Amino acid sequence: MPIKYVPFIPEPIEGQAVLGNFNRILKYKGADDTSMVLQRGMSLYEMEKQETVGENADGNMVIRGECVSACAYLKEHNIQVDLVYIDPPFASGADYAKKVYIRRNPKVAEAIAQAEQELDIDKLKAFEEKMYGDVWDKEKYLNWMYENLMAIKSVMSETASIYVHLDWHIGHYVKILLDEVFGDENFINEIIWYYPGREMHVPNKFNSKHDTIFLYSLSSEKIINSHAVAIPYEKQDRIKTLRRKVHKDDDGREWVWETRGQAAGQEPYKRYVDEIMEDGKALSDVWGDIPSLRGNDPSRNSYATEKPPALLERIIKASSNEGMIVADFFGGSGVTAAVAHKLGRRFIHCDIGLNSVQTTRDRLKANGVEFDVLEIKDGVQLYRNPVQTMEKIKSLIPGLKNEDKLDSFWEGAISDSKLGTVPVYVPNLMDSSSKLLDVVLMNRIIHQAIPDLDASVKKIIVYYIDITSKEEIEKFIDSDDSTTVKIELRDLKTILDDVVISDHAEFHVEETHDDLYGSYAVVVDKFFSDRVLQKIFEFNEKARMNASAKKPFKPIDISEDGLELIEYLSLDCTAADGEWHSDGEIKIDKLGYVVRNGEKTKEFWDGTVKSDKRPLRLKIRNICGDETEWEVNFDELFDK
Ligand SMILES: C[S@@+](CC[C@H](N)C(=O)[O-])C[C@H]1O[C@@H](n2cnc3c(N)ncnc32)[C@H](O)[C@@H]1O
Repeated sequence: MPIKYVPFIPEPIEGQAVLGNFNRILKYKGADDTSMVLQRGMSLYEMEKQETVGENADGNMVIRGECVSACAYLKEHNIQVDLVYIDPPFASGADYAKKVYIRRNPKVAEAIAQAEQELDIDKLKAFEEKMYGDVWDKEKYLNWMYENLMAIKSVMSETASIYVHLDWHIGHYVKILLDEVFGDENFINEIIWYYPGREMHVPNKFNSKHDTIFLYSLSSEKIINSHAVAIPYEKQDRIKTLRRKVHKDDDGREWVWETRGQAAGQEPYKRYVDEIMEDGKALSDVWGDIPSLRGNDPSRNSYATEKPPALLERIIKASSNEGMIVADFFGGSGVTAAVAHKLGRRFIHCDIGLNSVQTTRDRLKANGVEFDVLEIKDGVQLYRNPVQTMEKIKSLIPGLKNEDKLDSFWEGAISDSKLGTVPVYVPNLMDSSSKLLDVVLMNRIIHQAIPDLDASVKKIIVYYIDITSKEEIEKFIDSDDSTTVKIELRDLKTILDDVVISDHAEFHVEETHDDLYGSYAVVVDKFFSDRVLQKIFEFNEKARMNASAKKPFKPIDISEDGLELIEYLSLDCTAADGEWHSDGEIKIDKLGYVVRNGEKTKEFWDGTVKSDKRPLRLKIRNICGDETEWEVNFDELFDK
């Protein structure tokens, strides 16, 4: 349940072009769902601190949660951001997957190390796991986007700018939303990011080779450091650039009469050539000098849709100053946070997915950055990410099957011997406006969804994650006599609570007298993850079905002790409960190399994690990203 609702104000700009009549379906203005959501305000949820990395005097944040929930939190705490970059999912109909690599098992180290050295990365044992989906239809996407933009606007400082990164799928529609939200007088540029390389013929169209980044400011008081992002002149540019008579001072210093950039009627003035060259070439709105990240780029963080640091560097330098707060509410791989820190800015990274938060945390830790990891308890991240939670939920509702006759509002139906087909509504975790069951949604169910159903339907089931008040909704249903269909309300959270089985680990403690890496070592003897093993089982089944003589079935086998399912271990020697303090950590990369306390090494994992002080807690992250914590009872576990 939200703690309260925080108003979205400031209002959208009146008198702008709106998409209100689009297809006669998109309705985000007037008495419809989105405007009701906007009237009610942003839901403010409880925020839990998961970890503090360093002192974090700058207040940097890595937030796991939805964009709108994060904005509600910032607004409530009077935190304003000075620059926003967002690269939201594009509504491209794609599902993004993460490749999950099986790690090297330290107990059979030599053999595996040898084998893996000889393989290239893509041939390592791996399977895929869905991270997030881009699967809205246009109307839903624009409604969702509108709500997000309004939330972001409400936390922008007076001089803040926003860069909205999109592409040909939906960019043109979002431009109209942006005009409405920020005002077309605050539209600055449509930046074309052309990514060179991979020039090729594609069937029936020209190859799409650019993304579009819309730049708006909140007001005319904005920051544009165009000199900071000018492109340095090469030596050979000199003649082309000057193209006018060059004069010389007595000391030999060259100068020209400058007329460029002068208002009509203004006198030319003397400008030194070395200054012109130093100033560099002014940047235009077509950026064709930043390649996109290739799959094998060593700077990549294995995050689908990851953008190059050079792109963010340009944006952050152009539209913010040192010490300012740069926010990315769809932060993905954490590139905005990493670059913002490198350039002396503070940052807020927000993302709905666990994988994003872990990737960003590890990336920032490796760069020696200080920050807090926070989690918004908004119910979305019941599992690793919304896509996987939706899949899991569907498989857990007893008897739920797809039903072709029902429209997409319904997740499917349950066949009941007495009642016949019972349609089931499940909120979409990717769409925050459907997450909360309130009178607005129930009204829509009673007056739009139920009348569209076959007349034989006697009962429907409505699942919810969040509900304004169960009594209020039930009273509302009882007081409405326009339908005889029985409506049963069910809490979705109870289903997931029952099935998430924590990972199991067996370990002991040794005193190492190791001055370099710490005097205590927790040695992992066994690790068992039901969640990962289920994924591997599904992968093996699929591979078996698709096997052929050319491509024989090669299952992924996991050893008895299961250590190859571990990606990360951390010891907390500071506190036995509450937020996490990583006093010693090991990350095992996909090739098996160890990153110790953020520092890359060329060592393989030896099955231990070390600390200087006595460990109180152990945390293990499996290769899919689930984290489990154990108490380290030193006296019981100490191996004398
Ligand atoms: C295109 S990716 C961003 C990639 C990022 N710019 C980078 O360079 O790594 C979009 C991200 O939005 C996240 N996301 C989707 N819906 C969200 C929401 N409602 N709030 C916050 N993040 C969301 C996804 O988990 C995904 O990481």
